[in-house]
Amino acid sequence: MGDALTERAQAAQQRAYARYSDFPVGAAVEADDGRVFDGVNVENAASPVAICAERVAVGTAVTAGVRHLVRVVVATNAHPPSAPCGACRQVLAEFANDDLIIDAVGPQGHRRWTLGELLPHRFGPKDLEST
Ligand code: THU
Repeated sequence: MGDALTERAQAAQQRAYARYSDFPVGAAVEADDGRVFDGVNVENAASPVAICAERVAVGTAVTAGVRHLVRVVVATNAHPPSAPCGACRQVLAEFANDDLIIDAVGPQGHRRWTLGELLPHRFGPKDLEST
């Protein structure tokens, strides 16, 4: 796609720590104030404790004070480009509306969804207040 957020995700992907899966992922999130944060998947010899690139990027953004995201780009080597996993969709949902744009890029093109498409009927803070 060639835009700045995509380039940020693809650059991050080069720094992924994916020695066990050989599936490097880079993610970049854009906050509502225009700031951008990136992340990579960080794997571990105790494999269940790996963390996805999207969650690293969201955590970095939140640490910097961000509370609302407008777009995320995920860069992988998958074809077709792969969508964020279920856990990452839920984490993104905590800081975004249904109209969050989710772009997936890979060596052979890109795909685009909204969060509402990938995580319909989400569980959120309002559910906790509904009892
Ligand atoms: N992975 C991500 O970083 N993001 C996703 O949305 C899907 C999976 C990582 C986790 C693991 O390090 C590797 O990809 C293979 O599952």
